[in-house]
Amino acid sequence: MCGIIGCTANHSVVQTVVDGLKRLEYRGYDSSGIALVSDGIKTIKAVGRVKALEQKVLGERATTAIGHTRWATHGIANEQNCHPHLSSGGDFAVVHNGIIENFAELKDFLLQRGFEFYSETDTEVIAKLIGYYYRGDTARAVVKATRRLVGSFALGIVRSGENKIYAIRRENPLIIGLGENFNMIASDMPAISHLTNKFVLPECDELVELCAESCNFYNTNLEPIKKTPQTVRVEQNTFDKGGYSHYMLKEIYEQPTAVDKTLRKYIVDGHISLPLKNYERLSIVACGSAFHAGLMAKYFIERVAGIPVDVELASEFRYRQIPSQNGRAVIAISQSGETADTISAINHAKAQGMDAYCIVNQKNSTLSRICTPLYTEAGVERAVATTKGFLTQVIVAYLIGLSHSMDKSLLYGIENFGRDLKTALNSTDLIQPLCSRFYTCPYVMFMGRGDDFPAAREGALKLKEISYICAEAYAAGELKHGSISLITPGVPVIVLANDPSTGSKTLGNIIEVRSRGGTVITFSSLSGYGLKEASDYFVPVPPSPLASLLSVAELQIFAYYIALAKGCDIDKPRNLAKSVTVE
Ligand code: F6R
Repeated sequence: MCGIIGCTANHSVVQTVVDGLKRLEYRGYDSSGIALVSDGIKTIKAVGRVKALEQKVLGERATTAIGHTRWATHGIANEQNCHPHLSSGGDFAVVHNGIIENFAELKDFLLQRGFEFYSETDTEVIAKLIGYYYRGDTARAVVKATRRLVGSFALGIVRSGENKIYAIRRENPLIIGLGENFNMIASDMPAISHLTNKFVLPECDELVELCAESCNFYNTNLEPIKKTPQTVRVEQNTFDKGGYSHYMLKEIYEQPTAVDKTLRKYIVDGHISLPLKNYERLSIVACGSAFHAGLMAKYFIERVAGIPVDVELASEFRYRQIPSQNGRAVIAISQSGETADTISAINHAKAQGMDAYCIVNQKNSTLSRICTPLYTEAGVERAVATTKGFLTQVIVAYLIGLSHSMDKSLLYGIENFGRDLKTALNSTDLIQPLCSRFYTCPYVMFMGRGDDFPAAREGALKLKEISYICAEAYAAGELKHGSISLITPGVPVIVLANDPSTGSKTLGNIIEVRSRGGTVITFSSLSGYGLKEASDYFVPVPPSPLASLLSVAELQIFAYYIALAKGCDIDKPRNLAKSVTVE
C-alpha cells in the first residue's frame, strides 16, 4: 500500500517519476505527490488519481525528484496528508510506504522541542526527525532518525541543494534501479523495468545514496558495503486493455491461457514436478482471495491425497503460538508476494523451524525470496480484484494434492480445466441479464457445501469488493443455525451445487429459502436432482471434477456485470489497493 519512486539523472526526471507513479498506482490511489529538488524543494500534490498530479506538473523541470501514490493510513486523503512530507523549514522531503507504530511518541518528543505539524501522518514525523538530527550530514541524520522508528518503512528522502536521493527500508519493499546517467528507487521492479533491468535489493536498514552517476550502500554504522547488481528480465506491465472495457474483464478472459501456462510449467510428459518435499501436514497462510484459494486447496488435498491441511489467515497465524510439529511445512499463497501479514506469517513459521514455500505470481517479490517459490503463470494482474491470480493459485495448490494422489484420472480432469473454463466463460449471455435484475439489491447471500463453500466465499468477496453490495457466504448446512433469519421476500441467494454427494441436501436448502420468499439463483454442474426446477434462475456449470472452481469464474462475471450496472469504478474499487503492504 502506497507506492514510492524517485529518480536522479543528468536530465529532467519529472515525467519519469509521474510515469512511475502511474505504474505504482495499483498500490494506492487516493492522492499523489512529487518533490522536485533544486536550491529549494518544491512539492506538488493532488487528491485523486495520478493523472490529476500529471496536469499540475506540466512544464516543471528537475534532475532529482521523489514521488508517492497514497493509500491513506493516518489521516484522510487531502493535500495536507499527501506525501512528500517536509521537515521544518522544508529542507528535507520524504516519501514513505509503511506504518510507524511509535509515531505518537515521536511526535510528542518533537512537539516538546517546539516542532509544529501540518498533517495527521506518521510520515511527517520522519521528515521532522531527520531535520532534528541533521548536523551537516544527511546520511547520518537519516540513520539516526530511522534508528528511532518502530514499524515498517521504505523511505525515499531528498534534501534541498543536493542532487541525491537517500533511501532505506525495514520490512517494506524497496528496489534500486541502475541506469546510464540515472539511478532510481521504487517500490517494485515493474514500476521502472521499462527503463532498466539492473537492480539491487537493499537489506533491512541498509542506507542507499544515489546520484545520477553513482550508487553507494552503507551499513547501519555508515560503513560502505559492496552490493552486486542483478540483471532481471521483468515481464513488461501491460497497460493495454486489449479491447475490453476494464482490466478485470480482460483478466477474467485471460484465465484459460493463464491456467494452461501454469499447468505446462508443472506437468511435463504427464508427470507433475513441483519443488516440494513430502510432508505429513501442511499449513497454508494467506489473506483475502488467496485465503479462499487455501480453503479450496484444503478440501482438495485432504480428499485426493489424505494429507491434513490447516488454512489460516496470515494476520492471525503471525501472532499465534504454533505447536511445534515435525514433518509440517508452511505454504503462503499470494499473488503479489508483498502482502505484509503473509510475509510476517512466513517469517514466524520459519522462526519455528518450519520449511516455507509460497504459491506466488510476482517473480522477485519478497515472498519469492524468503521461501521456495511455486510460481503461478497468471501474468501481470492490473485490476485490484484478483481473478486469474486466484484461479492459478488454486491450480498450483491442486497440483500439490495430485502429486500425492493415487487417482491419476484426476490429472486428466485438471489438464482439461482450461477447455472447461472457456465453456464456463461463455455463460456471460445467461449471467448478464441476471445482473440487470439484481444490481439494486442491498444484500446478496451465497451458499454451498464442500468445495462449493470456499468457492461461494470467493464469489461473495468479488461481489462486495467491486459493487459495494453486502455479500456473505455460508456453508449451506449452517443456514438453519442462524443465517436463515436474513431471508425475507426477494432476498437473492446464490447457491453453488456441484457435488453429487450433497446435491439432494442442497436441494433441501433451496426449498427452505424459497419457502421464505428468497429468490434462488443456482450455479450447478449437476443434473437429475431437481435443482433447476426448484430454483428461480439456473446457470449451468460445465461438468468437471473441478466444477466448483469453474463456478468461481462464473461468479466473477456475475460480480463484474453487477458492478458495471451500478456504474462502479471496477478496476480501482474505493478504499482498496492491489498490494497490502501494511498490517
Ligand atoms: C480480492 C483480493 C485480495 C487479495 C489479498 C491478498 O480480490 O485481491 O483479497 O487476494 O489482498 O493479496 P495477495 O494475493 O497479493 O497476497
